Amino acid sequence: MVEELKLNPNSSRDEKYSEIYPQIKSIVGGETDTIANLANVAAIIKETFEFLWVGFYLVKDKELVLGPFQGPLACTRIGFGKGVCGTAWKEKKTVIVPDVELFPGHIACSSKSRSEIVVPLFNAKKEVWAVLDLDSAKVSDFTKMDELNLEKILKLISKP
Ligand code: SME
Repeated sequence: MVEELKLNPNSSRDEKYSEIYPQIKSIVGGETDTIANLANVAAIIKETFEFLWVGFYLVKDKELVLGPFQGPLACTRIGFGKGVCGTAWKEKKTVIVPDVELFPGHIACSSKSRSEIVVPLFNAKKEVWAVLDLDSAKVSDFTKMDELNLEKILKLISKP
């Protein structure tokens, strides 16, 4: 049975991360299919924080290919080192872009996107197999607090 997400409307963003973590752990722990888990994690983050766009790109051959997401139509393929997503893949680390207009090579899927965070997912060999991309309509919407919480959540998802 699918339960509804339990959220306290008065919580801060940091507190909301703490509220959704055990719920994600329970949902992901009860399902072995990676795409199903990525889809639910994207849905939970979108529903909780109402960001403009929340989704995954999966490493396939030499490109990132669009995976489960919530939000407006998005570009389907991103090259290694291209845009914020390809940069996070290449550098193997989380990239926070406070103002997308100041990030050279930013790939604008939506003109409403003003700031962005991209967090890589690693397999057992420390290779990137996917990235999580969050887009906000506000400038400077992401901080180290988001980075730490998202990295913790993504450790719950195992490689396909
Ligand atoms: N802005 C991203 C592309 C993906 S969309 O935002 C959904 C980038 O520069 O990699």
